[in-house]
Amino acid sequence: METPIYDFLRRYDGAGMARFHMPGHKGKTFLGCEHLDITEVKGADALYEADGIIAQSEANATTLFGSRRTCYSTEGSSQCIRAMMYLALTCRPTGAAQVIVAVRNVHKAFVYAAALLNFEVVWLWPEESCSLCACPVSPEGLEKTLASLPAPPTAVYLTSPDYLGGMADIAALAEVCHRHGTLLAVDNAHGAYLRFLSPSRHPLDLGADLCCDSAHKTLPVLTGGAYLHISKHASAVLAEHAKAALALFGSTSPSYLTMASLDLCNGYLAAEYPARLAETAERLDQVRNRLRASGWQVEDSDPLRLTLRTPEGLAGTALADRLRQSGVECEYADGDFLILMVTPENAPSDFDRLLTALGENHALYTPSAPLPLAKGERVCSIREALFAPHETIPTGQALGRICGAPTVSCPPAIPIAVSGEVIGPENLALFAQYGVETVDVLK
Ligand SMILES: Cc1ncc(COP(=O)(O)O)c(C=O)c1O
Repeated sequence: METPIYDFLRRYDGAGMARFHMPGHKGKTFLGCEHLDITEVKGADALYEADGIIAQSEANATTLFGSRRTCYSTEGSSQCIRAMMYLALTCRPTGAAQVIVAVRNVHKAFVYAAALLNFEVVWLWPEESCSLCACPVSPEGLEKTLASLPAPPTAVYLTSPDYLGGMADIAALAEVCHRHGTLLAVDNAHGAYLRFLSPSRHPLDLGADLCCDSAHKTLPVLTGGAYLHISKHASAVLAEHAKAALALFGSTSPSYLTMASLDLCNGYLAAEYPARLAETAERLDQVRNRLRASGWQVEDSDPLRLTLRTPEGLAGTALADRLRQSGVECEYADGDFLILMVTPENAPSDFDRLLTALGENHALYTPSAPLPLAKGERVCSIREALFAPHETIPTGQALGRICGAPTVSCPPAIPIAVSGEVIGPENLALFAQYGVETVDVLK
């Protein structure tokens, strides 16, 4: 597959032009990558008005993902989530309400989208969950929520895979959405690679209408590189407006390094990547089996993630420290879980180091207690709360106050309290459990 952006950057660099244009480094080495970092010079196209090399590269990505249209983002899924919500709202059919039905384990970018675009959220709560990161939703639960609404919502919004690697039953949930005349939008930030499994487990192939993937999280792409996908089965209007939606939330100076990285990745995805992915998923399965045999509890997760629950007396964060001392850095740890993200770019020796560092576990596991559901009363909209005067106070003094900005640590950036909700005792318990010491509240 051709790599027109990357090829252009190499040619431009090789031509040795006197650079009387941005960026200010003029291609001279400071970090090491400056020679390929350019701006919209002649022939370089422009991300939000693409009709040259960027359009060609995005057309390649569209073919690879089997979408109606795939657009690049250089500002992560955070940008795509806002664009996705804007698209769904502005292109919604007559009669659809300005409401998004969303799982509660949304990334904070979704809450910011609600504030910027002023839509209402109907939350889908899990029946039970033992982590803030997980929010399992059944097709029956979704059916019940949709049937209870006076009008179809603009969209249903899911996070899948979630931070622990939990995967929603997208096919069944999409069927419920479509039967109720609404769209399914999926935050697939952690699942770009799912398209290249055999068979594909990518949300678009399972019935999602809109979807965003952080290419940079699971594919060999520089930080910030992401895709906004419109499904072949979704309305053409969504595809037509996708660029304008992204432009609304993006910088006018998108990084050419990130675009070139997305472009180069196309070549890899079209060639050896699927075979390397299958090999890695198999290797990780073997690692999971060895860890189970060594006394560790390995949770079910998406194929490129290792999710360990920690036993009695050992916090995930303490286990992360132990691994760090052995030269292994994890993706995320909290009181109960340790998350490691794997790709084909991990060397076999990485797995050996991990297995040695973890060793055997002899501590006991007790069944994990479900978390309290912090369904704080909503007293104003997310927009009203985010745009009102705020103050930051210790969480111990927050009972009864109204949440201003969503209170999260990053990662996993999932709000414990959402703007406009009264902070109740359940929130306080969750703040304590996740080590959140201060909270932003309305004055
Ligand atoms: C579930 C989820 N959605 C969205 C995002 C935002 O993605 P990005 O960092 O690509 O903007 C993240 C980031 O960690 C995430 O975990």
